Amino acid sequence: MDPRMSSFALSCLFLVIASMTQARSQHVRDPHSFARPEAVVTHLALDIEVDFDKHVISGAATLTLRLDPKATEVHLDTRDLNIHKVTLLPEKSAPKWTLGEEVKFLGRELTIAVTPKTTSIVVEYSTSPSAAALQWLEPLQTAGKKKPFLFTQSQAILARTWVPCQDGPGVRMTYSARVKTRPDLLAVMSASNPVSRSSDGVYTFDMKQPIPSYLLALAVGDIAFRPVGKRSGVYAEHALVDTSAWELGDTEKMIEAAEALYGPYRWDRYDIIVLPPSFPFGGMENPRLTFATPTILAGDRSLVSLVAHELAHSWSGNLVTNATWSDFWLNEGFTSYLENRIMEALYGRPYAEMLASLALQDLQNTLKDLGPTHPDTRLKIDLTGRDPDEGVSDVAYNKGALFLRHCEETVGRARWDAYVRSYFDSHAFTSMTTEGFVADLRNRLVAGNADLEGRLQIDAWVYGPGLPESIPAIASSEFAAVEKEAAQWTSGIPAVQLSTKGWTTHHWLHFLRKLPATLSVDRMKELDGAFAFTRSGNSEILTAWLQRSIEMGYAQAYGALEHFLTGQGRRKFLKPLYTAMTKSPDGMQMAKRIYAKARPGYHSVSYNTIDDILKWDVK
Ligand code: BES
Ligand code: ZN
Repeated sequence: MDPRMSSFALSCLFLVIASMTQARSQHVRDPHSFARPEAVVTHLALDIEVDFDKHVISGAATLTLRLDPKATEVHLDTRDLNIHKVTLLPEKSAPKWTLGEEVKFLGRELTIAVTPKTTSIVVEYSTSPSAAALQWLEPLQTAGKKKPFLFTQSQAILARTWVPCQDGPGVRMTYSARVKTRPDLLAVMSASNPVSRSSDGVYTFDMKQPIPSYLLALAVGDIAFRPVGKRSGVYAEHALVDTSAWELGDTEKMIEAAEALYGPYRWDRYDIIVLPPSFPFGGMENPRLTFATPTILAGDRSLVSLVAHELAHSWSGNLVTNATWSDFWLNEGFTSYLENRIMEALYGRPYAEMLASLALQDLQNTLKDLGPTHPDTRLKIDLTGRDPDEGVSDVAYNKGALFLRHCEETVGRARWDAYVRSYFDSHAFTSMTTEGFVADLRNRLVAGNADLEGRLQIDAWVYGPGLPESIPAIASSEFAAVEKEAAQWTSGIPAVQLSTKGWTTHHWLHFLRKLPATLSVDRMKELDGAFAFTRSGNSEILTAWLQRSIEMGYAQAYGALEHFLTGQGRRKFLKPLYTAMTKSPDGMQMAKRIYAKARPGYHSVSYNTIDDILKWDVK
């Protein structure tokens, strides 16, 4: 054979393989979506009305499609949606469509027949009042107490309960929306946003960058806006907006720190909305508009690592997106690592080391609970047939972050930072599998260096359970001082004599963790007398203290416990407190009494978790 010919054949073969690999990384099979690669949604145009009386969103979703020539059907995800009518465009014809049987966690597959001419489909629909993504708040559940509020939570697979869509993180679309609501309320989305109310209650939105469906978000309420920087600002209920703007005053600096590390912020504005207290998460990285719990309003900016975290998702997650929920650690592990780097840039290494140390302790506790060989202690886990929510643990967040810190320490910061930055640049606006990331790491960082490969232990970290032997050393000098004070108190020095001046939230959390496992009620009382934990307005400290109070039977804190559990619905705080109460019959009784009162105020994400913990009978 002509040698030129064979090299031509070889390069053709190479091109074919390369394009196949690329296609695979785009359209990896997602066990949590009915969507198929031959017909994908590229743009969503929403036209909806928000009805606070009926607790229903209704309207039309026009989905622009990219069809393979052989495609005859489009497959969408829906759950608890009423589908009224489907129309093909440009034909303006009514196609054949079917709604499949309900599948656990996934909802019902909407299959629509299309023609070779079809460019988009219009789905007219309405949501059910119990749509899992939506929480409709009565005026009394808001800060202002006068007007209702609605917010959405789409991650992981709840977007399909309020928009018919291809609800997997491997599909990206741009979107626009027209939202009509009561004229006395403001609507905001994960898109370009208004800063004041319109006279007719109609708002329009645009998201020009392609995003996965789990980042679709909407909030409607008596919302006001305050700028805090040149491209950042804070939305909150009128009653809370000034407090919130002060607490989040470091946002612009965080954006600058993140850009210096990981390249330009690609979403134009970065705003934050502080939601009513039933928001089930600390934060949610909805693009251009992070959703946040008001429990970060500590009064001293001590809980703003949450902003660093959600902001970091603008790179890890929103820009380079986990391909399926089994790759969730790519979103959260990267983000937790970036969060710590941003915190270090703003507040210094000793501060960031406190956060890293607390995260490592959390991880070690989780690993102890699960057992060192449990399959869910791997970074890549198989969530097929399971609720993706089951993958949300310290493993994805903290083991993921620890692995990346291990990479950083192994190759050195300069080289590592350059790699991470180029990783975001070269995969921007695409999805990434764990295997894809590992391959990228080997190609561009390890580059055949056998010694480096040996030291990184990539496979052990990513695919192995528990923690490899050589984990990064986290040394917090601040915490060494805290431990000294805890030991002093344990050995009999009165609490009021301890040196706690200048302690932040994180010092206090560490202090509480370092106290002896059992304490008498009198000892609890002494601490409370000295430090007023029961009256703490800091949600993190209060949770740690209340958990201990339950464990030690310190009944003086039970009033505060009930107040806290009925006053906010952040799952991270509810979970340990209800769990602690289940450990004794009296506690269980108290838990059930409080829960009966609190449950109607919780978002589905939170009550589904607590129902399980309390084995609550859902009637
Ligand atoms: N994206 C997550 C929240 C999430 C994860 C929602 C999985 C649904 C499914 C968000 O970025 C997050 O991690 N929030 C944390 C905050 C944090 C500082 C670790 C939270 O809510 O506690
Ligand atoms: Zn996150």
